Amino acid sequence: MKVVTIVGARPQFIKAAPVSRELRKRHVEILVHTGQHYDRNMSDVFFDELEIAPPAYNLEVGSGAHGEQTGLMLARIERVLEIEKPDRVLLYGDTNSTLSGALAAAKLHIPVCHVEAGLRSFNRMMPEEINRVVADHVADLLLCPSQTAVENLKAEGIVRGVHLVGDVMADALNHAIEAAGNRSRILEDLELAEKKYLLATVHRPENTDDPVRLKSIMAALSQVDDPVVLPLHPRTRRKLAEVGLADQTSNIRQRPSTIKNPRLIPPIVYLDMVRLEQSARMILTDSGGIQKEAYWLGVPCVTLRDETEWIETVLAGWNTLAGANEKRIVELARSFAPPSARPPLYGHGHAARLCADLLDRAGRHPRLAGPEG
Ligand code: UD1
Repeated sequence: MKVVTIVGARPQFIKAAPVSRELRKRHVEILVHTGQHYDRNMSDVFFDELEIAPPAYNLEVGSGAHGEQTGLMLARIERVLEIEKPDRVLLYGDTNSTLSGALAAAKLHIPVCHVEAGLRSFNRMMPEEINRVVADHVADLLLCPSQTAVENLKAEGIVRGVHLVGDVMADALNHAIEAAGNRSRILEDLELAEKKYLLATVHRPENTDDPVRLKSIMAALSQVDDPVVLPLHPRTRRKLAEVGLADQTSNIRQRPSTIKNPRLIPPIVYLDMVRLEQSARMILTDSGGIQKEAYWLGVPCVTLRDETEWIETVLAGWNTLAGANEKRIVELARSFAPPSARPPLYGHGHAARLCADLLDRAGRHPRLAGPEG
């Protein structure tokens, strides 16, 4: 079977790595990079570090308004699919690359497999929510990380081809933990001590593109007593400059110990991120993936959003929603304490193999994937 996999943004490289390893044992995989993320430290370093085969195609779409970016990808992916004529297209997550891949494949009647299907924030102001809804509605094989995701699909009338496989990010994390401990020097480089600092990330448009929310989050992070390390997404860097907080970005080049909170650093590679996550006293984030990584690593998480797709981590008491509320973030950063119990969530770390198994079955019987399993 020939599978075209479409990736484009940083979290998709991480998700694709374990599935690609399994898939390539059995099938031909043609990897297509849309070029949505193009900075070396947002893209190439992940391919090197995660040992993902170099993409067969890089569509070099770069940044742009959503319509422009999605449209460019759609046209270029269509051309690749016409050349490659795959049996199936494989998509991950909820980015504009996912949306374009879904539309291009569906229009050419190529079956679509969506990994991380069924997630919903129920907030249609998020570009990711639109992308996931569309991808799920054109996919014929929907691989879900949680039972909640399966139920979300059911509520939208999607039951055929739906499977609960667990989360491929858990596979990626399990694969990386040892190497992160052995190879990453990030704690030493940043002069940080185990459990004596917090890790923060901010990149969602709802936070970065709203000056009130962005300033409120930055003000909160500046009031935390322990060091707060914030690897800076390029969008956030640009937006900080726009709201007059450019002086904060200058601390990227200062010596760590002389920096006031938050300590801004450039985007980092996956192993360094895992190392920073596992040694943090707490994580503050608006990322989806990092909420789960915090849970799996047993690190309390404060989510800088008003809702989350990963509700199970909140129900387990290890994650809490703070939105962009300055006072609440400061309080939680001091005092949020999860319970001792941390039940397993999102599968058992072999989601990638299950994805490959289901692709096998579906590949032999296109459009006849089994019922929810
Ligand atoms: C995208 C995804 C988001 C995911 C995130 C991970 C969508 C709608 N969003 O958001 O779900 O969580 O990736 O990072 O697809 N930029 C650079 N260099 C790069 C990439 C981006 O400078 O390599 C800058 C550009 O100014 C660009 C901005 O960052 O305008 C945002 O990039 P974009 O691709 O639009 O989406 P993300 O915010 O990264």
